[in-house]
Amino acid sequence: MREIVLLIGGGGREHAIARTLEDSEADLYACAGNRNPGIARIAVGFESLETTDPDAVVEYAEDVGATIAVIGPEAPLEAGVADALEAAGVYAFGPKETDARIETDKAFQRRFMAENDVPGCPDFETFEDTEAACEFVDEYDGDLAIKPAGLTGGKGVKVIGDQVTAEEGKEYIRESDYDRIVLEERLIGEEFTIQAFVANGEFETAPAVQDHKRAYEGDEGPNTGGMGSYSDATNELPFMTSEDYDEAVSIIEATVDALEDYRGILYGQFMLTAEGPRVVEFNARFGDPEAMNTLPVLETDFLDVLVAARDGEGPPELEFADQATVCKYAVPEGYPTDPEAGAKVRVDEESAGDALLYYASVDERDDGIYTTTSRSFAVVGIADSITEAEEIAEDALAVAGDDGLHMRHDIGKPDLVQRRIDHVEELRGN
Ligand code: AMP
Ligand code: GLY
Repeated sequence: MREIVLLIGGGGREHAIARTLEDSEADLYACAGNRNPGIARIAVGFESLETTDPDAVVEYAEDVGATIAVIGPEAPLEAGVADALEAAGVYAFGPKETDARIETDKAFQRRFMAENDVPGCPDFETFEDTEAACEFVDEYDGDLAIKPAGLTGGKGVKVIGDQVTAEEGKEYIRESDYDRIVLEERLIGEEFTIQAFVANGEFETAPAVQDHKRAYEGDEGPNTGGMGSYSDATNELPFMTSEDYDEAVSIIEATVDALEDYRGILYGQFMLTAEGPRVVEFNARFGDPEAMNTLPVLETDFLDVLVAARDGEGPPELEFADQATVCKYAVPEGYPTDPEAGAKVRVDEESAGDALLYYASVDERDDGIYTTTSRSFAVVGIADSITEAEEIAEDALAVAGDDGLHMRHDIGKPDLVQRRIDHVEELRGN
């Protein structure tokens, strides 16, 4: 039977998922709030709908006769879209609402780690009372990360001693007045992501990726959803050892064991500290941009993963090409604090050269492609080394012409990678 796959979401991550299924024995349909031109071109059908509306997604899934659904972003997971699809008899590769709390509720996430003795959890406390939280900031011996418990698109966290002072941190707690916040030990080190493909109690992991959260070059400016990322031709990154990678995988293993019936991607965000990997957070989906590093080098048919998961099996052993990747995002001017939505973007696809081009949160209309408030498109270079992959990605940024888009040219450049290596060596006292 030919599978009918429904892809939910319209960002760069979902364009990468669509492209990875392009040559699979499946008919691909897609739905998203924005019309992503890259996905629309690949899919047999594309429907514009609110992806956080479970009824709307189920209706479209039934219309097209979907046999499997893949949920890209976190918001539909939080809205219970996987549960609704399941109830309608459509297998969803993506966790149910209660399991997605590993991402959507950071207080749950930390308690879950503590209660299940998952290694790598920093010290933490959760608060509902703003003043009690501020008192804890005063009393705590060391710097803290301030995290709203709910989803903020990666933009709600403030780290004392890094982005803000203790006084500014308390001001942030008072002004933002979130219902619940988590205060946790500030972790110092280098961040990396490992994405696990999870099904029926088993999992397979992808090579590590490093994302760049800060908006501006040199890791300055506000946190974003991620400005770009790189991976190496091996499982680990240049600042890590293979033991670091394995230790992070053992944390994922303990988490998968403790989560019953989890399916989909479990994304571990780690800080490589002087004491080894610690968990910054978990996400219940592929990373964006990290999916654009990982899926183009996945040599196993992603459809085989989906079918195995649906049929009650663990994922097949995954093969990845021994290639480095560098991804760079072009984002609207002013992103993330004051993004210019509704600006026309010119994308000269011919100029992408050897790079892959992924459309993200842009909207295709009759007369062209327009920015939204989120990231616009990404280019990905793939080569034997990070340096070569970076050059390919950088050349491809010419597709953006001189339009009012912003990007970080430093991602994946030898200087920046070397700084990461030096940082970890310094922490480890070498
Ligand atoms: P999150 O939304 O939890 O991924 O946090 C966004 C960013 O804040 C992370 O990628 C880190 O750069 C930073 N961050 C979060 N938690 C911590 C922590 N405990 N220590 C240091 N930095 C953190
Ligand atoms: N790249 C960070 C995220 O997907 O949450």
